[in-house]
Amino acid sequence: MELFSLQTLLLFFLSLYLYLFFLSLYLRPKSTTGFKSYPLVGTLPQFLQNRHCFLEWTTEVLSQCPTNSAVFRRPGKVHGVITANPLNVEHMLKTNFVNYPKGIRFITLLEDFLGRGIFNSDGELWKVQRKTASYEFNTKSLRNFVIENVTVEIQTRLVPMLENAAKSNRVLDLQDILERFAFDNICKVAFNLDPGCLGGDGTAGGEFMKAFEEAATLSSERFMYALPFLYKIKKLFDIGSEKRLRKSIERVHEFADKIIRLRMEEKAEKKEEDLLSRFIGDMDNSANSAEFLRDIIISFILAGRDTTSSALSWFFWLLSSRIDVERKILYELDTIRTPDRKNVGETYSFDQLREMHYLHSAISEAMRLYPPVPVDTKACREDDVLPDGTTVGKGWFVSYHTYAMGRMESVWGKNCCEYKPERWLENGVYNQESPFRFPVFHAGPRMCLGKDMAYIQMKSIAAAVLERFEIDVLEKDKCPEHLLSLTLRMKGGLSVRVKERCVALVN
Ligand code: HEM
Repeated sequence: MELFSLQTLLLFFLSLYLYLFFLSLYLRPKSTTGFKSYPLVGTLPQFLQNRHCFLEWTTEVLSQCPTNSAVFRRPGKVHGVITANPLNVEHMLKTNFVNYPKGIRFITLLEDFLGRGIFNSDGELWKVQRKTASYEFNTKSLRNFVIENVTVEIQTRLVPMLENAAKSNRVLDLQDILERFAFDNICKVAFNLDPGCLGGDGTAGGEFMKAFEEAATLSSERFMYALPFLYKIKKLFDIGSEKRLRKSIERVHEFADKIIRLRMEEKAEKKEEDLLSRFIGDMDNSANSAEFLRDIIISFILAGRDTTSSALSWFFWLLSSRIDVERKILYELDTIRTPDRKNVGETYSFDQLREMHYLHSAISEAMRLYPPVPVDTKACREDDVLPDGTTVGKGWFVSYHTYAMGRMESVWGKNCCEYKPERWLENGVYNQESPFRFPVFHAGPRMCLGKDMAYIQMKSIAAAVLERFEIDVLEKDKCPEHLLSLTLRMKGGLSVRVKERCVALVN
């Protein structure tokens, strides 16, 4: 207890000293672009005032900048550029890819949670994981596997759960359900393990899910410290949020270690290939350690669990006040189902899912406005000039702001803030957008590996749910608050009631 008081006191005085020291500096961003006028962004007081509504604040600032890019300065030599300009995005993610790795700052902040998994590595370490993983994502069998898994999860877990809730008129947290679905799915696909999170009484895996969420949120909060090294002091003394982070990471590690242990025990007789077995296979020939396998597992859980569930939660919320869009989706499902004499409730094949152009557009449009990964950050290796004239110093961070890009008139026109699935369609066919204007799945050599898999999963769930149930979002007129985490989650979840539809649905 005495020791704790001493630590707290020390920490308090150290923080106070540093805080006053930095406040006393006059932090004015210097003009580093060819443009004379651009807003003062990123001074310490501004940052402190706005960090809790970071996305909205930075979107507002970027929309007022001549080229939709702004310079950002914080104490602790944190200098950087935030951009919502597609030309800059193409430059950093593709044309000059080698100059924009994740970088040491990003990697260090997330290392306790993600280790050196694919999301948190650069250079050779990234390349080898990308190569090994991409075999799994490129094969046709993966798609079939996803279809089989998704179908089973929908038929045996999701639909029965919604039927029961409809009967009892129970309020559900749809975001939580979608996360459980995605978690079961990614574990099955990547590690051939079924945690049954969505099944039973809905409590299985609860502790792990909570720990995982907490670890992701607390890790991302490290980016938001006014004084970036403050978290290190808290970590050193094992207090506050850093203590909670340590504990939640321990629980996440326990889960991942169990997967590895089980797999090692089965290894001798196991012939089936999955993502984990590919990495274990690699392990025989190289120095891949159990710790590295753990990092890989955690990265894939993050990729698979938090992204599709985020996208679908925002999609269902947007749909709740757009009956016109819902009707068009139902109409499309009807036109696909009828020629194949399918009944409502039968799941769709891979080819039928590909025919769903309107649903594809409606989901893409939801992600345009609410991208699951709203901001993505790289580090600048050597001094550079971005295509819009902004100069970037060596060691600066450069973030492309996908959330803001969806709200830029310069990118999407006057109606940029409107939810309008039609903008994606040309003669009724989904029109692929440039990944630099729509970097929701990243772009260039590090483009998301799971994009196709994600669409298959999201379309299957949306189709199955919408044709069987009416979703009544409890506070549909209020935009859910964001939770600042690695992905764009809804604070407090998405409360809904469901009702079974009883007729053939569309005129
Ligand atoms: C709506 C769903 C999804 C979205 C919006 C999305 C978005 C992204 C983004 C923005 C990145 C780049 C992140 C970074 O810079 O580190 C990324 C990378 C990645 N995604 Fe996805 N993702 C989705 C679903 C999935 C799924 C289901 C998987 C499969 C497990 C997956 C696997 C990956 C992998 C392995 C990478 C790392 C690629 C690399 O660094 O080379 N994603 N994703």
